[in-house]
Amino acid sequence: MSPEQLYSNLEEASTFIKGKLSIPDTAITLGSGLGLFVDSLKNKKTISYNDIPHFHQTTVAGHAGSLVVGEIQGKSVLVFQGRIHAYEGHSFEEVVFPTRLLKTLGVKNLILTNASGGINSKYKAGDLILIEDHLNLTGANPLHGKNPERLGTRFPDMTNAWNFDLQEVVKKAAKKIAYDLKKGVYVGVLGPSYETPAEIRMYRGLGGDMVGMSTVAEAIAAHHCGLKVAGISCITNMAAGIHQGELDHSDIKDQANQVSATFVNLVKETVLLL
Ligand code: HPA
Repeated sequence: MSPEQLYSNLEEASTFIKGKLSIPDTAITLGSGLGLFVDSLKNKKTISYNDIPHFHQTTVAGHAGSLVVGEIQGKSVLVFQGRIHAYEGHSFEEVVFPTRLLKTLGVKNLILTNASGGINSKYKAGDLILIEDHLNLTGANPLHGKNPERLGTRFPDMTNAWNFDLQEVVKKAAKKIAYDLKKGVYVGVLGPSYETPAEIRMYRGLGGDMVGMSTVAEAIAAHHCGLKVAGISCITNMAAGIHQGELDHSDIKDQANQVSATFVNLVKETVLLL
């Protein structure tokens, strides 16, 4: 898509949403099974992805498809309840459209959340991990193609892509709820097949702590356009070869649901500190 077409699509979607909602400073993208966060919000207003111009509906079980604005103790947040993934057949440009839309709407901070497989042997299923960095092993980059200069520079520096200040805020939030928050490097892959044990050994050798099929493209596009990004990953299972037995998406959703209460508290406290 040409940059001009992208700007025009973003404007159209943004005008539609601004006509229905007032836009807060902070947005959260909810990963597989973490959608229950929305239940804890007050004074909610919801728009279905189907109704937003240029948005795609997600096809993944465990991912609703709605944009919600609601309040945590009077503080407003925007929530993407469900995301689209490249493995569903979407281009990375499509995957990051909602992220870029946040910038067009005037959002400042983005908290990305996801479900992932634990590679680091210090993790266990059910842990929430602060994403301190990533390895983009999806085989692609959402900034591929003509650069939309109005959004950001051609060659963005990635040193602070996982914003240092926001990481401190999430750590502070964890302290507040007495949660022992570990941190780690998220390996982003295309999926949808889970990894082989040999791949997991390779990712561990490369410095990866957890692996998942989302988030990395969104983080790149968000940093490119100047959003501050933080990430919280829910270890829903230990990765292939570390985990004994076979991986199943429904188990992963169940595990994410089980840590929902802690997850909700951690994200709530983070939002309140922003
Ligand atoms: N691998 C990739 N993505 C995942 C996993 C996994 O083990 N668990 C949850 N999302």
